[in-house]
Amino acid sequence: MADGDFLALGGPSVDGEAALRPVPRHVALIMDGNGRWAAKRGLPRFEGHRRGVEALRRAVRAAIEMEIEYLTVYSFSVENWSRPREEVQSLMGLLHRFIRNDLAELDANNVRVQVIGARDDLVAEVAALLREAEQMTEENTGLTLVVAFNYGARQEIAAAARAIAEAVVAGRLSPDEIDADTISARLHTADIPDPDLIIRTSGEQRLSNFLLWQAAYAEFSFLPINWPDFDEAAFRSAIDDYAHRDRRFGRVEPVTCNAKTGS
Ligand code: FPP
Repeated sequence: MADGDFLALGGPSVDGEAALRPVPRHVALIMDGNGRWAAKRGLPRFEGHRRGVEALRRAVRAAIEMEIEYLTVYSFSVENWSRPREEVQSLMGLLHRFIRNDLAELDANNVRVQVIGARDDLVAEVAALLREAEQMTEENTGLTLVVAFNYGARQEIAAAARAIAEAVVAGRLSPDEIDADTISARLHTADIPDPDLIIRTSGEQRLSNFLLWQAAYAEFSFLPINWPDFDEAAFRSAIDDYAHRDRRFGRVEPVTCNAKTGS
């Protein structure tokens, strides 16, 4: 983009610095359409998911190249448990293989893996695998790959509300101290900036219980391609489109900031 116009910001819980950059600091991906990709080709759904992992690898490499700081991927939602048993098993198998095969490369590329989602109801082996990925990469300082696994935004917000209620009952927090930051600090994403851009593939235009709280000021990009077809060109094109958006954060009078002059 041609050093476009960006908005200077000043809201209390808004990352103004990130909003001034042509490249979003945090991109979140809803990797949708694996099943449709496979169905169109007469292939089993599993093949769509397998090709989806390849698209995920490409997306991580492109994010590193574009110097995106956080990439969050919706890999398994709390609602996904209601899929046929074999499909759930194949998704678990893919997660297993992704971590086993790709963790060393992610680590070598200075990628830090963080996992968001409920851990309590995961089988011990999967929970251990996720913990291993986090622990092995926790010192890394490059891209943070946030894997949303067994994740549901409403469940996350309910858990935060429960933690706040417990703090009030215990006398550690007064109800009149509760504000948006009190809630943000109790989400799985407490130490992660809000997403600047959320990309969903497959043509669907909804959030499906993904980052509902954190998406308050996110920009959206709904792409008509299925996730296995998401490649570097599609990613770069979405980022280029983002760079031309005016982010107002609820302001009436946006303050324009020229990326070159800083004016
Ligand atoms: C949506 O496609 C995709 C998912 C439910 C899972 C996304 C998972 C991957 C890309 C691979 C797994 C990666 C890890 C790290 C576990 P869909 O099945 O809903 O497609 P459809 O709507 O066309 O049926």
